[in-house]
Amino acid sequence: MKPQILRRLTDLRTLTRDWHRRGETIGVVPTMGALHQGHLSLVEAAKAGCDRVIVTIFVNPKQFNNPDDLAKYPRTENEDAQKLAAYAVDVVYVPEPDEIYPEGFSTTVSVADLTDVMEGPGRPGHFDGVATVVAKLFLQTQADRAYFGEKDYQQLLVVRRMARDLNIPIDVIGCETVREPSGLAMSSRNLLLSSGGMETAAELNRAMQNIAKGLATGGAVEPMVQQAKSDLFEAGFSEVEYIELRCAETLSLLTHATQPARLCAAAWLDGVRLIDNIAVAPA
Ligand code: PAF
Repeated sequence: MKPQILRRLTDLRTLTRDWHRRGETIGVVPTMGALHQGHLSLVEAAKAGCDRVIVTIFVNPKQFNNPDDLAKYPRTENEDAQKLAAYAVDVVYVPEPDEIYPEGFSTTVSVADLTDVMEGPGRPGHFDGVATVVAKLFLQTQADRAYFGEKDYQQLLVVRRMARDLNIPIDVIGCETVREPSGLAMSSRNLLLSSGGMETAAELNRAMQNIAKGLATGGAVEPMVQQAKSDLFEAGFSEVEYIELRCAETLSLLTHATQPARLCAAAWLDGVRLIDNIAVAPA
């Protein structure tokens, strides 16, 4: 059965008030639609951890710094609803744009420091857009738990910090990245790759796994990154924006795996920007 779709906050609030009155816990999975297996794994986690599950679909204009990207972003509400039917979610909240950004909207939620690195500098305004919309979705859904993929690791940390700093009473839960058998992290952007491109794209994760192995034996990251870059260029990547070892909590730059860390990367293949990250345990 297709899930119930709500577009107005008052309708959503009627339900969430009732659920909370009955002592039921609410999980939210915020998305921009174009759902793939990665999103559906978050829905599964929410179903397992909460009495009620809300999936939100909102293509948030404030987090796109390129108008073309926003225009091209896939909008597949019917297919998404069909996919969600199999998971029996309680509500799909697809807010009308004025529920999120009413006339005269003039508030921005901005998280400092964590956004100064990696994805931040090249995408001005992106994380402000994410933090603002996610704060609104947390407050609108009144959820007790929210589920985010570790694929966007920096986003996960930014959202967690935002909720903590603003005292929004919600647990932000990070869920493992879902991968193709080749190791390629699932992403809506993979649809833009040819089948040959999909194979080559998996080289990014392979290169990262090799670096992680070297780090586990106490190696320094930099020479291994240089090797990985040259391997990726040889495989057909046109640009490697960064491959960096970062503290798993603060995202400060590390040279060795001396504490729980994430190896994070962004690279271009066939005009598609791919990002990935993996956990690295202290050596
Ligand atoms: O990861 C996404 O799809 C978006 O950034 C999010 C968290 C739904 C906010 O628009």
